[in-house]
Amino acid sequence: MSIEVERLGKTFFAEVRNVDIAKPMDAETVEAIRQAQRDHGVLLFRGAHLDDVSQENFTAHFGTVELNLRSDVDHVAALGNVDLEGNFRDPNTAQASFLRANQQWHSDSQFFKVPSALSFLRAVAMPKEGGATQWADTRAAWDALPPPRQADLQDLMGINDLQKSRAKTGHTLTEEDRKRWPPIEHPVARIHDETGKRALYVGSQVTGISGLDDAAGAALINELVAHSTQEQFVHTHQWTVGELVIWDNRRCLHRGLAWDEQSEARDVRRSTTEGSGPTSEGGLPIDEYARAQAA
Ligand code: OGA
Ligand code: MN
Repeated sequence: MSIEVERLGKTFFAEVRNVDIAKPMDAETVEAIRQAQRDHGVLLFRGAHLDDVSQENFTAHFGTVELNLRSDVDHVAALGNVDLEGNFRDPNTAQASFLRANQQWHSDSQFFKVPSALSFLRAVAMPKEGGATQWADTRAAWDALPPPRQADLQDLMGINDLQKSRAKTGHTLTEEDRKRWPPIEHPVARIHDETGKRALYVGSQVTGISGLDDAAGAALINELVAHSTQEQFVHTHQWTVGELVIWDNRRCLHRGLAWDEQSEARDVRRSTTEGSGPTSEGGLPIDEYARAQAA
């Protein structure tokens, strides 16, 4: 039986039905899901009811699964305000401040030279109210810009300074972490390494623009995030426990919405696949990288 794919959002959000992703799948079904992911950007699987191990196995169909040491399973991070036993976590740790940063528009691990390609998020516990997730289609947002504006932006590099982006949620990096995560750059209008299409690549982790002073850089970043997150580019999903969503970090931004963290549990588990960058390294922007790969 073949999968059914139905677009729910305006541009990029689709639901996949007629498949049980908790069980092993044949190659044809896997390829149909991979194709749906390339076509749509964000995919929802209702009633998937994976556990950490089957989530890790499912993720592996899409690429190399990245290491994540925040749960019992090496490749699936527990990103809730409760621990694996369901007890509320201390809200004053670095981990808690990291989770709070998820409530600002961002693309996962943008502070890496090679950021994650896909993210997989599964709902294990959800509050009665709030706690939805939103995605913004930054490819559609790029396409909607007038060509002269695109020409002005297309060679700009965004600076990702983890020290500065973490400061926004009250977290200071240790000296050691500062060395481990020096500021790096990615193109503001990144080219997708599989589809060759550009998307705006900004968000809360972009803390400056190369060649612009701080104020001008911040103003441009804010303008591009505001442009990308207009209602026509955004899809909001209110979770039901057991669902899994896949999104493509190379073509959308996302954020979690607030809920009553003190009294309601929200437990989500995330796995990611390795990107195929660098989007930039030693002055090699992804445009050149994409061209070199295509040659
Ligand atoms: C993430 C993330 C948002 C949410 O897991 O990368 O940003 O709604 N999550 O939990
Ligand atoms: Mn995220």
